Amino acid sequence: MPEGARSETSLASHRLEDIRAFLNQNLVESDALVEKLLICLLADGHVLVEGPPGLAKTRAAKLLASKLDLSFSRIQCTPDLMPADITGTSIWRPDSGVFEFIPGPIFHSLLLVDEINRAPPKVQSALLEAMAERQATVAGETRILPEPFMTIATQNPIEHEGTFPLPEAQLDRFMLQVKIDLPDEIAERQILDLVDQEIINEPSKIIDPVSKDEIFAARIESRRVYLSPAIKDYIVRLVTAPRNKTTQTDLSLKIEHPASPRGTLALAAAAKARAYINGRDFVLPDDISALAVDVLSHRTILSWRALSDGDTAREIIAAYLERVPLT
Ligand SMILES: Nc1ncnc2c1ncn2[C@@H]1O[C@H](COP(=O)(O)OP(=O)(O)OP(=O)(O)O)[C@@H](O)[C@H]1O
Ligand SMILES: [Mg+2]
Repeated sequence: MPEGARSETSLASHRLEDIRAFLNQNLVESDALVEKLLICLLADGHVLVEGPPGLAKTRAAKLLASKLDLSFSRIQCTPDLMPADITGTSIWRPDSGVFEFIPGPIFHSLLLVDEINRAPPKVQSALLEAMAERQATVAGETRILPEPFMTIATQNPIEHEGTFPLPEAQLDRFMLQVKIDLPDEIAERQILDLVDQEIINEPSKIIDPVSKDEIFAARIESRRVYLSPAIKDYIVRLVTAPRNKTTQTDLSLKIEHPASPRGTLALAAAAKARAYINGRDFVLPDDISALAVDVLSHRTILSWRALSDGDTAREIIAAYLERVPLT
């Protein structure tokens, strides 16, 4: 047992380990993505996965859904999508003489929103309501979404034509923005082997999917993970460092709008979930440094100076991580 591990690993954390093992078994070289999906599941967050096409984003979401006893649905965003396509709509039933509400894909526990930046602003706004408030308003009536409710959205950073960049308020609703890259030669070969085997063999049945109650139990335990005052101070130093405009360092000039307290809260919650997933009942500085870029970069708006220098928010947050002292 690693140093600092929980002396008694609970049933809930075993079940989480089952999900992790299942995903890692079926996804090549995707440990980091898998861990972050689990962090969002545990910390009640949403995740935005950014990467070029064909990197198993849909596969990862479907695998997660299949190992969980939760309902799943997928939205492929296009510029002509209407809010009702995702929220659902009421239709008139002449036989019974009443309007019947037909729920849209948003009323599922696990929602994959592919190419979210292709959705027009009204659809993005309906998604924003769902993600932030766990509810959807259709024809003036507000309906509560199922619990848990987790959005896995994808966007392709290469494409700009026909896209509507997500507004800052929408981005802020994502706990993590995860970036994935093309695999190397060895991983590429493993992917070929894996998929080839799947084509040859019958798909195996999912054994013992993880239930809602098991997820809720793991959530309760992960919230109780100890976050020491020293680590809280470190999180706050890290999030507020870019707000300090009095010492105009080269870095602070690169940021137009730094992250809000939502960034602080998300970093703390995600760090607890990471500690829990790794069998600890306390957060380490390592949890913060492993997550800071994914939690903070999409909440950070760069200045024209940074953009003209070709910097990315991920690089700037990584530079702050190097600079902000641990103690
Ligand atoms: N790391 C990986 N592990 C296992 N399979 C992979 C991996 N990367 C790619 N694949 C395979 O590549 C194919 C494409 O995957 P998928 O459709 O999930 O990609 P995607 O990221 O959703 O693409 P798009 O952005 O076009 O929707 C699938 O057959 C998948 O099995
Ligand atoms: Mg896909």
